[in-house]
Amino acid sequence: MIGRIVGKSVGEIAFRQNYKEDVKIGEILIADDKEKNAIFFLRVIDIQYGQEGADKWGIKTAGDMLLLDERNEEYDLREKERRLFKICICKPLGYVQNGKFYKPKTLPSHFCAVRRATGQDYKFLEKYMGDIEIGKLRSGEKEIDVKVGIKGELIPYHIGIFATTGMGKSNLMRVFAASAMKLGKYGILIVDPHGEYYEGSVGNKGLKHHPMAKDRLIVYSPHAEYGINKLVISAYEISVSDLEDVFTFSEAQKEALYALQSKFGRRWLVELHERSVAELSEIFERRIQDITFSVLKRRADRIMKSEVIHIDESVSTTEQIIKDLHSGKVVLVDTSGLYEYEELLISVVLARKILNKNKNLFRNKDEFKKIPPVLITVEEAQRVLHNGIFAQIAREGRKFKVGLCAITQQPKLIKEELLSQFNTFFILGLADEGDRNILKSSAKQDISKLEKEIQTLEVGEALITYPGAPFAIPVKIHWYDDYIKSIENENKKNEMLNESIDEGFY
Ligand SMILES: Nc1ncnc2c1ncn2[C@@H]1O[C@H](COP(=O)(O)OP(=O)(O)OP(=O)(O)O)[C@@H](O)[C@H]1O
Ligand SMILES: [Mg+2]
Repeated sequence: MIGRIVGKSVGEIAFRQNYKEDVKIGEILIADDKEKNAIFFLRVIDIQYGQEGADKWGIKTAGDMLLLDERNEEYDLREKERRLFKICICKPLGYVQNGKFYKPKTLPSHFCAVRRATGQDYKFLEKYMGDIEIGKLRSGEKEIDVKVGIKGELIPYHIGIFATTGMGKSNLMRVFAASAMKLGKYGILIVDPHGEYYEGSVGNKGLKHHPMAKDRLIVYSPHAEYGINKLVISAYEISVSDLEDVFTFSEAQKEALYALQSKFGRRWLVELHERSVAELSEIFERRIQDITFSVLKRRADRIMKSEVIHIDESVSTTEQIIKDLHSGKVVLVDTSGLYEYEELLISVVLARKILNKNKNLFRNKDEFKKIPPVLITVEEAQRVLHNGIFAQIAREGRKFKVGLCAITQQPKLIKEELLSQFNTFFILGLADEGDRNILKSSAKQDISKLEKEIQTLEVGEALITYPGAPFAIPVKIHWYDDYIKSIENENKKNEMLNESIDEGFY
């Protein structure tokens, strides 16, 4: 027995801890109420000192001890176990009665016994768990043998991954991709500016080591190699709005850009690149200043120099990428080695084309039904989420089966209105108070009392919130290398099983 309940209210339960036990913040414990035939789930949010005896007894005793310390003598504390104890303050998460989960609307009985949870206690959680497995349930630092996954149907409702550097965002993304590859029924686009996902790096494996990579992973990069497709975008695919998402322009420059687009249509960037300032000036009857054109031309020339942007209208991989996504593949676009503007431009063009494609398909109900949810991941999302295509997807993507997965170390830099469009949060360790506060106000579960837990999350530990979850789910995210090993073993077992069935059959 870990303890016995001593107070306080429906909103906050306190229990006196058994002196032999060591309870930690974030642990989820069970108050076993035999009277009500119910189990209450309690999340430890604070631990306080307690002592029996007269008011100043503790202070006086400490003073006596200090005196004895000076004389190198031992203080003999009688009945230590009874007089000194700890009080654990818990947030009640809810209770299970007759197999059904209820919000915390009632109190467990007086002096109700508190114990550690077993896998059996969490049986009710199964129906809240989704198919995209990402880890195991966690109680404090302890892993519980209950798998945690999020529902694929929540993809279009957007996912946020928040953590201070080094807390495990990339590993989580790898695990997410690994589960998606195992299922083969969601399109996941990962733009990888650090080149860390495919090969992996020192000490960890990459997506290419996934046992199903051959069929379910498609890789694009500026340099084609064995198993890697060449990434090309045609200049004809780039719209003025894409450029606006990546660069900042003055009002005069914007006007000129839109004038170019309305004059030349899809050829606008090529025309800007190929014609001289004098020619352009002539075409627009000197309504636009030469200086504006020359600034814009320099931009256009720089873009056209990029190894991924081609002047040829017919060479492009965007259509194929969308097809891959629609057939439930994980598509990895490696932009490492490119300039940041190139990486952003690629993400923006792909995101816009995916949204537009799905919008078109939406008009045909049967066609639309066939396509899987598509998730677009954005590393360091605070760079791009304020407006433009990504903000648009955040607001309207759900209708068109397009979701965003925003990965960021600084959620406070994202507008609250946009953040509230994200229904699933993975909250890993976050050192900054401002970052934690903004998540508190946007999460779909009440995490207001979990401040201490979020502060003390270790690498790979997370809280997940999503609509319909009974409470913020504590999880230990799989270590990618171990997870793909387990998928491999599972596959082998299934193969062996199939073989033995075949042999038996013939
Ligand atoms: N679930 C996990 N289990 C065990 N170790 C982990 C886990 N997640 C991360 N780690 C450890 O932490 C290290 C950093 O993880 P990761 O690269 O995923 O962090 P990150 O948040 O993406 O960092 P950055 O901000 O630098 O991109 C890993 O190399 C690994 O050693
Ligand atoms: Mg990372």
